[in-house]
Amino acid sequence: MVELILRTVRDDDDFRAFNAALYSVFLEEPQDDETELSRKITDFDRMFGFHDGNRWVATAGDYRKQVNLPGDAQVPVAAVTAVTVSPAHRRRGLLTRMMRHQLDGIRDRGTEALAMLFASETAIYGRFGYGSASQNVVLSGQVRDLGFRPEVELGDGSVSETDAETLLSVGPAIYDRAIAGLPGRMNRPAAWWNYQIHDNDERRKDSGRIRFALHHEADGTPSGYAVYRPKSDWAATGPNGTLHIGEVRATNPRAYARMWRFLLEIDLIRSIKYDGAAIDEPLRYLVADQRALQCEVVDGIFVRLVEVDRALALRRYGAPVDIVVGVHDEFCPWNTGSFRLRGDLDGAACERTTAPADLTMSARDLGAVYLGGTSVAQLVAAGLVDEHTPGSAHRAAAAFGWPVAPAIPDHF
Ligand SMILES: CC(C)(COP(=O)(O)OP(=O)(O)OC[C@H]1O[C@@H](n2cnc3c(N)ncnc32)[C@H](O)[C@@H]1OP(=O)(O)O)[C@@H](O)C(=O)NCCC(=O)NCCS
Repeated sequence: MVELILRTVRDDDDFRAFNAALYSVFLEEPQDDETELSRKITDFDRMFGFHDGNRWVATAGDYRKQVNLPGDAQVPVAAVTAVTVSPAHRRRGLLTRMMRHQLDGIRDRGTEALAMLFASETAIYGRFGYGSASQNVVLSGQVRDLGFRPEVELGDGSVSETDAETLLSVGPAIYDRAIAGLPGRMNRPAAWWNYQIHDNDERRKDSGRIRFALHHEADGTPSGYAVYRPKSDWAATGPNGTLHIGEVRATNPRAYARMWRFLLEIDLIRSIKYDGAAIDEPLRYLVADQRALQCEVVDGIFVRLVEVDRALALRRYGAPVDIVVGVHDEFCPWNTGSFRLRGDLDGAACERTTAPADLTMSARDLGAVYLGGTSVAQLVAAGLVDEHTPGSAHRAAAAFGWPVAPAIPDHF
């Protein structure tokens, strides 16, 4: 047996090899431009895996990101990525060892109280204490069926197509304002913007060339943008194009509505598809025929509280709460214990206690409720959370719940 070394990525060449290994497990080919874009969002010392002396046989890592929590805080999060084990080495415990190494490392680093990831397959990460915390939503529909509610105000701004350079000059400020206070959304530094709006043949394959539009207020202030890819198609009966929406962001409701109006009226487009919408995306309420806007829902982000007490104190709570939560955490046993949580819309405190627990749950289920997208009461109903003090499940559900659903538009 060849000895496997657990180590971090060392330099550019090593990163290329690391990237090639992970693309191979994902059954894809790495493109030079994609590798270069990835390199710019990557800290080599956060990318690691098992190397057999010739090549990477397992990979993992995390990006340095900031995430909005319920409340106004944007806090550091380890955005876990690049998790692969080569087909020849699978099911020998390498993933488990990488998860151990990574979660211990995040704890030692002390910068992030939580980690998040998107799972290729839902069943992989629960055993490591990651809970499904948001929903990934695909909205689609025939544009002629959707319509707009007649009372929707469009304001007196205007929309025009624009280029990548212009979008990059005004888009980030609009994005930052548009996502403020919305849970789950992450910061997007310049290198992430470049990654996000890059275009190449592979990205165009299913959905056409990337395009951009900007909304300006009547006084010329940019206040909204859209990123989209029109895919031309023709049926025997005429045009049958599909508009693939990347994102629509605006700093006010009129700009948001006018941008959607623009997109839904592009000539020769018959249907839209919006991957990465929020479950409560305002578009769902704007359209005249809600049923015509189909909504496909699957699991979204998975959350892992690395330090339970710190993480619980970082967010705000939708209703005043004072409860004792018992936590069991087999993979990160330092979290096992009881925590007194007090919080409301203005602040929160969490400390260990010997008082009896009102509710007991796993770290995984605590991760699931953390962003406000999963109800504590429904986890009790599912038999996953134990309620010891009658009424505490509903009180906790009201406190952990949030008026806006968590959504994470940027995949990583
Ligand atoms: C998912 C993957 C990383 C697992 O690696 P691995 O080294 O085989 O995992 P381990 O041997 O440490 O498995 C640990 C446990 O998880 C289970 N497990 C692993 N992958 C699983 C999967 N896809 N679905 C369900 N269970 C899985 C194993 O059966 C094992 O369970 P056990 O402890 O009860 O025996 C690997 O199969 C892979 O690279 N898949 C393709 C790429 C991918 O999907 N990566 C994840 C990106 S988010």
